[in-house]
Amino acid sequence: MNFIFLGPPGAGKGTLAAAVSASYGIPHISTGEIFRAAIKAQTPLGCKVKAIIDSGSLVGDDITVELVKERLSQPDTKNGFILDGFPRTIAQAEALEKFARIDCAVNFDIDDNGVVERLSGRRVCRTCSHNFHVVFMPPEKENICTHCGGELFVRDDDKPEAIKHRLEVYRAQTAPLIDFYRSKNLLKDIDAKPATDLVLQAFQTAFPKERT
Ligand code: AP5
Repeated sequence: MNFIFLGPPGAGKGTLAAAVSASYGIPHISTGEIFRAAIKAQTPLGCKVKAIIDSGSLVGDDITVELVKERLSQPDTKNGFILDGFPRTIAQAEALEKFARIDCAVNFDIDDNGVVERLSGRRVCRTCSHNFHVVFMPPEKENICTHCGGELFVRDDDKPEAIKHRLEVYRAQTAPLIDFYRSKNLLKDIDAKPATDLVLQAFQTAFPKERT
């Protein structure tokens, strides 16, 4: 199946997408991760989007749509995919309809307090990009990645002012997608507040592997 993962910043979309990708054998395509990799590699795209991303604003629709269109043309997406963080505007959703079929938009629901709690405690590995949380998913050794030994850091857009701005951007530009997909009978709400294994269980119940 072809999934979109919707939800506010910090809802746990990336964490769940990684688990679903491993368990269902479909690629996890995160536009945020693609942009962060470009920034790290200092490519022309990375240089162009760095300030936008650090502030918590959205990258332009044209750049983002082209990037996703190219990624979805790769052969590993033919048996399904998860789009995490795309579309983020109605214009992106309308553009997506022209080059991909979407089977379900999964809306991960969580309130603002939950978002702030998750984003302010997130730590990311500088080497392998794995996400931790100081309370909910702590690394074995403080500030050291359990998987590769890399150094953990706080994303610039996880600083308090940027979190506030990201929530405003989400409400103004991305939340309208919930009704957009509901009106097409493509929306499935999942409560994102419980622990990750319970959210994954809810997903697996809603989308049994043999039917995806
Ligand atoms: P992006 O990377 O997509 O950021 P986001 O949507 O704000 O999502 P996050 O990565 O912050 O959160 P998440 O929901 O994936 O949560 P996570 O699993 O990490 O985008 C970054 C930027 O790129 C944007 O601001 C924009 O500038 C640009 N961009 C990207 N896509 C774009 C687009 N389409 N158009 C324009 N611009 C675009 O979890 C968060 C924390 O909580 C972690 O620490 C995790 O360990 C913890 N956690 C997760 N689940 C649970 C749980 N169930 N219980 C307890 N803790 C949990």
